Amino acid sequence: MKTKALAGFRDFYPTDLALRSHIFSTWRTVATRYGFEEYDGPPVEPLDLYTAKSGEEIVGQLYNFKDKGDRDVALRPEMTPTLARMVAARAGELKKPIRWFSIPQLFRYERQQRGRLREHFQLNCDLIGESSSLADAEIIALAIDVMRAFGLSPRDVRVRLSDRRVLTAILRQRGVPAQSMSTAFEFIDKVERLTPEQLQEASSRPDVFAPATVLDLVEVSQIRGWDALDRELERAAESVKAAVPLREAYEALAAMGLADFVELDLTIVRGLAYYTGIVFELFDAGRTLRAVCGGGRYDNLLQDLGGVALPALGFGMGDVVLAELLKDKGLVPSDNASIDVFLAFITQDDLTHVLALAHQLRDKGLRVEYALSPQAVGKQLKLADARQARLAAVIGPDERARGELIVKDLRSGTQQAVPYSTAADTIRARMHG
Ligand code: HAM
Repeated sequence: MKTKALAGFRDFYPTDLALRSHIFSTWRTVATRYGFEEYDGPPVEPLDLYTAKSGEEIVGQLYNFKDKGDRDVALRPEMTPTLARMVAARAGELKKPIRWFSIPQLFRYERQQRGRLREHFQLNCDLIGESSSLADAEIIALAIDVMRAFGLSPRDVRVRLSDRRVLTAILRQRGVPAQSMSTAFEFIDKVERLTPEQLQEASSRPDVFAPATVLDLVEVSQIRGWDALDRELERAAESVKAAVPLREAYEALAAMGLADFVELDLTIVRGLAYYTGIVFELFDAGRTLRAVCGGGRYDNLLQDLGGVALPALGFGMGDVVLAELLKDKGLVPSDNASIDVFLAFITQDDLTHVLALAHQLRDKGLRVEYALSPQAVGKQLKLADARQARLAAVIGPDERARGELIVKDLRSGTQQAVPYSTAADTIRARMHG
């Protein structure tokens, strides 16, 4: 008998689930503020949905198997292919632009480490049927506003923003041939993590990007901010044109007052193969964690998977890294009370009153508990404390004889006698007061 969950899979004890619920409800609140509607799809999909367009990295991490009907299937590692299929199937009926969000659980066979597990939940927000750069700004603003709703500021998190079209134009103008472009993207994606020896090694193979050099690529990867990018763009008119959507999206974010959250950074390439334009990742400012969120524009995926030409963009935000960040910043809500009111009784004869009052209070929407077997009042009040109840009501033979009960405020320690007949209303008023 195995006594542990599989490596990389989580047991959610109630305090863990409370944090997960806090994350999900904040995600829903902000996504709906942007007019996004919630959808879902199947957790198991045909294998070729992913082998078609997601790229090697994610295909190598698939949980795939043959089902009993001998079909090749996979647990979903990401939501975007499912979304593309669903939208393409009803593209004619859906009002554009489509604004949809989902909170799927996803499965990837990855090496387990901090912030990386074999299952995670991911907020997916996607906008389909809109090619303007205002749509890119809208999606990035939504990701930033989720961070703000958790209490995070530009001191805590930053969006690193790039555009594959700009990077392609710059690399081309530096001399990278078309057939080496994807190798150049991979190099730029990894350049920050390369050791000096690995860089040396790469430089010793001058033919890979010729006539461009490894130094060219390193220089491009170091471009930060608009001044540096403009200097690079001045070298060719084609690049200036390629940078128009990126500039427009940035300016829109600035007009929303969100510029402090955003940094231009051409090393953001994104691992998934289907991105075609603006790409971004959201990181903790201290860069101690992996990305909280990543996304971008994927204008060809609906055509490739569903035969419908519709531009699209969106992001995925994982719960694992986000929870680490909230814990690091002390932003996990501390109210773990599971009940509002504990009802204690002294003798078995008082129990009927407790049962009746518990029912009235629960009907009024309060969270109520009482002891399920007779025990000393002291012990009952200890349970009330452990549950972090705000109020305890105690009823015994003396109170019953007076037609009253005692209501104790467990935070301030004060108590008062309350008529039994109006106790439910009084307790509710105290809870809301
Ligand atoms: P992704 O970059 O693969 O994008 O994942 C997005 C986020 O999900 C990551 O930044 C990370 O926080 C979280 N994540 C990914 N893998 C794991 C893991 N093994 N353990 C914990 N968290 C993880 C996508 O999946 C795209 N489909 C997002 C997208 C939607 N692009 C456009 N629309």
